[in-house]
Amino acid sequence: MIVPHYRPSFNRHEQAAARAVIKSQYIAQGSKVRKLEQLISEYVNKKFGVAVSSGTTALILALKALNIIEGDEIIIPSYTCIALWHAVKAVDGIPILADIETDFYNLDPEDVKRKINPNTKAIIFPHMFGQPGRITEILEFGIPVIEDIAQAIGATVDEKPVGSFGHLSVVSFYATKVIGAGEGGAILTNDESIVSYIKDFREYDEKNDLKPRVNAKMSDLTAAVAIEQFKKLEQFTRKRYSILKLYKQILEPYLNIPQNLKNSSLISNLYRCIVSHPHKSADELIDIGAKYGVTLRRPVFQPIHRYLGITKFPNTDFAWERQVSIPIFPDMKDDEIHFVISFLKNIHS
Ligand SMILES: Cc1ncc(COP(=O)(O)O)c(C=O)c1O
Repeated sequence: MIVPHYRPSFNRHEQAAARAVIKSQYIAQGSKVRKLEQLISEYVNKKFGVAVSSGTTALILALKALNIIEGDEIIIPSYTCIALWHAVKAVDGIPILADIETDFYNLDPEDVKRKINPNTKAIIFPHMFGQPGRITEILEFGIPVIEDIAQAIGATVDEKPVGSFGHLSVVSFYATKVIGAGEGGAILTNDESIVSYIKDFREYDEKNDLKPRVNAKMSDLTAAVAIEQFKKLEQFTRKRYSILKLYKQILEPYLNIPQNLKNSSLISNLYRCIVSHPHKSADELIDIGAKYGVTLRRPVFQPIHRYLGITKFPNTDFAWERQVSIPIFPDMKDDEIHFVISFLKNIHS
């Protein structure tokens, strides 16, 4: 048997929704996109949502809406999806990297504080792997925060949904994300002027003036699939927790589970189950997993500071050298779960 790291959970609901859109003969941006925008924004307690073509596009448009221009500094973690670096570069900003906390993999407010200066114009705060971080402390710095819930929609901080904290929030609907629809993203905000700006910028056609614009629209076909996935969000999280319960019996005594499930104010959606072994590196664990038939992944392909050849990100280095993501997805079958459990037992012995 080979257990994949992830497999999407599509069934007759997504199939019927996609079929209905095709049957309607209207597959471009339309009523399904508007419905998705409404559902997601309501879910994260924001007044407005604007759907776009990807999470990266959502980040770029969020930065543009904050008026980020050449030379502005944007603080982002090093231990994150490289999309954040690309988004900052796309608006000619300067990405300033900060380290993560040891327990939560998320931006360390202390390191962020050290990196703030008069050129700092925004902070992008991704809640990595579904585990929310200390965003409330980041907000106290008084700098605009883009809250990135690409991996964390469904998680909560002090019982409030992630995505409700940032001045702007962004989500991704990439195929392997919590809500997977192929590609897609959205910007969520309470600020109507930001909504008008992004809605105008995302489509170039039939305008009365000539300003630079792009095509960053989502299609109704994508939105229809995303809506069906969204309806299952809580069911997906429940399934992930039921798998974790089984893993924990083995993981707790032997392996280090950095997800600090003890901290009840930060509730993960368990998008990823991140583990590290006391004596084995991530590379070793991935090799052993491959031989056994369990696909393990590094949760971040490579920290950004390593591409840049800079140092002094000790927590990020430790996480990258030691952490792996083990399969935990809603479509996991019982025999796959038990196979992973037998693997986890095996790597300890
Ligand atoms: C935290 C985070 N932000 C942004 C993105 C970018 O999303 P997309 O792949 O939809 O462009 C990702 C995707 O991998 C992500 O993990």
